[in-house]
Amino acid sequence: MKGIILAGGRGTRLHPITRGISKQLFPVYDKPMIYHPITTLMLAGVTDFLIISTPQALPMFRELLGTGENWGVQFQYAEQNEPRGLADAFLIGEDFIAGDPCALALGDNIFHGAGLGEQLQTINTSNSGATIFGYTVADPSSFGVVEQDENGKVISIEEKPKNPKSNLAVTGLYFYNNEVVDIAKTVKPSKRGEIEITSVNNAYLERGDLSLKVLPRGTAWLDAGTFDGLLQAAEYVHAVEKRTGSKIACPEEVAWHLGLIDAERVLKLAADHRNEYGDYLKRLVS
Ligand code: DAU
Repeated sequence: MKGIILAGGRGTRLHPITRGISKQLFPVYDKPMIYHPITTLMLAGVTDFLIISTPQALPMFRELLGTGENWGVQFQYAEQNEPRGLADAFLIGEDFIAGDPCALALGDNIFHGAGLGEQLQTINTSNSGATIFGYTVADPSSFGVVEQDENGKVISIEEKPKNPKSNLAVTGLYFYNNEVVDIAKTVKPSKRGEIEITSVNNAYLERGDLSLKVLPRGTAWLDAGTFDGLLQAAEYVHAVEKRTGSKIACPEEVAWHLGLIDAERVLKLAADHRNEYGDYLKRLVS
């Protein structure tokens, strides 16, 4: 499965702090935000990535992430001139996807929980159409919202409904089979002028090809795209890391754990960070 990270947009919900810098480059305590979706997809088994962002921000992502070689993965980059909608990722990424299955992760979504990687890998290998990930929230009105029948079967997905039919929000992580590009091409812009990922998901639903995986309560899902969300994400990462002594979304650690790089490489990368981050990497492999 290939992986696309969508890290563009105007970040209007975070103005003025996003006027000069891309949101997905912001620190979430000790790492750039984009490390989160990257490691989530790495844990799911993705090594071939396309990073999509604005023409202004893309050079900074290249500077930060390079070719991916250091982490045993591959990064390619593509521009999105205008935030035309999440489904645009599949139009921009058509050549990159090249008829393979593809996952999409939003650059500002943070996932963390025991066993999440294994769960995602299992879904990656068994996914036959589309798999979306639901999460119960108190106020779902700013998300895609899932309606289910009494047997848990998905009946509909609505984008930012005024009167949500459930508390189950659709998170910013999506797995698709090799039909996603063709489906994205059929999507018409919504009232807000975007080609919505919700329309892609509803198209899979109509074909009977949509699976919903509800993330268990022990999993944390945070959308760091608002003032409060950004602070809460940093507080969460800080609290868990200090308490457990383990890092969340550390790509060097994930790559080593998955066997994509060896201990020698980790030590070399550790030497680039003359701080607590580097010390952590050294401790990891010693
Ligand atoms: O966070 C999960 C939610 O993400 C889902 O529940 C919704 O169904 C889905 O539409 C999306 O809603 P948002 O309102 O959060 O999407 P937003 O416009 O904030 O975009 C999400 C990320 O994608 C953000 O980091 C900016 C980036 N983006 C967005 C658009 C529309 C792009 O890179 N390009 C775009 O064209």
